[in-house]
Amino acid sequence: MALNVQAIRGMNDLLPEDTFVWQQVEKVLRDTVNSYGFSEIRMPIVESTHLFSRAIGEVTDVVEKEMYTFEDRSGDSLSLRPEGTAGCVRACLEHNLIYNQEQRLWYMGPMFRHERPQKGRYRQFHQLGLEAFGLEGPDIDAQLIELSYSIFKKLGIADNLTLQLNTLGSSEERAEYKKELVAFLEKNFDSLDEDSKRRTHTNPLRVLDSKDEKVQALLKDAPKLSSYFKEETRSHFEKLRAILEALNINYEINENLVRGLDYYNLTVFEWVTKDLGAQGTVCGGGRYDGLVSQLGGSETKAVGFAIGLERLVLLLTTLNKLDTTKTNDIYVLGMGENIEVHLAKVSSYLRNSLNNVKVFTHCGGGNFKKQFKKADKTNTKVAIILGDEEIKENKVTIKNMFDKDAEQVTVSLEDSIDIINNILNK
Ligand code: HAM
Repeated sequence: MALNVQAIRGMNDLLPEDTFVWQQVEKVLRDTVNSYGFSEIRMPIVESTHLFSRAIGEVTDVVEKEMYTFEDRSGDSLSLRPEGTAGCVRACLEHNLIYNQEQRLWYMGPMFRHERPQKGRYRQFHQLGLEAFGLEGPDIDAQLIELSYSIFKKLGIADNLTLQLNTLGSSEERAEYKKELVAFLEKNFDSLDEDSKRRTHTNPLRVLDSKDEKVQALLKDAPKLSSYFKEETRSHFEKLRAILEALNINYEINENLVRGLDYYNLTVFEWVTKDLGAQGTVCGGGRYDGLVSQLGGSETKAVGFAIGLERLVLLLTTLNKLDTTKTNDIYVLGMGENIEVHLAKVSSYLRNSLNNVKVFTHCGGGNFKKQFKKADKTNTKVAIILGDEEIKENKVTIKNMFDKDAEQVTVSLEDSIDIINNILNK
């Protein structure tokens, strides 16, 4: 009987045509974060469940409904990471990376959330995350936003993204505000949708970003968090805005932007697009000054963000911003006695002598016609051909596959390098 096994719903294979595109995007991301002086950290994909419930919040959607949680063989409750911030803080505490010192870190990898899959929303997805520790001013908030903006600019999609910005103030300011907000929501309880009713007493701030139109209309008359802000919050936000304005980064203030994870305070932001339908948030982040101490460390200021790579790639594809034509630099082919040995030797010489060049060695024999057909199929720029003459005289024939009028030349292996470089760099 055939084994009828398919990938888990919402978890996607990335096929060679996808990885070709992903690698280009990942290179831009890596080059950018490195150019800002951030260092890479790699955390495990599985952590103790209580790390996430503690960090993200017991009554968030992520912890309540979306985690992949299981008991391992020792009876410990473990979860696949739904995001990277919690694990990053855990690793920093465990290895003493942030005690009395600043750290600027990044990570890239898969995250897991059991959400209803749709375009742009998956159960396994990938994030590039950045976290900066030990810095309290709005300058680092602005730098992170500028870094995300520079990624979008380099990829040619900045014009299709809007920066939404808000400040959530301090936990004291939010506690004061929550009392008034809950009173308002209770007064209008019957007009709330089921989700907002539930959240009124568990996580009232989340009602602010309800997708329900009736609730949004009602919220126009709701009390505003901003009227509870004191000097410190106001000045942090004003300075952040001033830096962004000086950098010519446009933003929209969205007072209903509260983010879905509980650890945020002060600055929060998202980059959103209209080009992806319902799942238009490509990047989100903000400050989380309370998280390190909440997880057992000493008080450490922190701020970060994460970009969803599937949404980034989807947007790039939708806007036609990616190079999708895969090319091959060199195809080494030939016929003759002991040809396998000669092809292997020549290919190895070329790989060692040419920098960053893809050398594809023909395998499996066959006549010249068949071999050239394969070279064409892989979109090859240069064919290196070996026949009886070449083998006897220790030479190779070079054919420019992208210029059918160019003459073939037969030269020694040493002399071939400059000629190949000339063709490839044209
Ligand atoms: P988040 O807003 O939950 O924040 O996720 C960040 C980004 O990951 C989203 O804007 C979205 O692009 C992508 N994403 C989230 N869920 C899915 C999904 N199911 N399918 C596809 N993409 C998804 C965080 O995770 C925070 N840890 C960000 C952060 C870092 N805050 C401070 N430091």
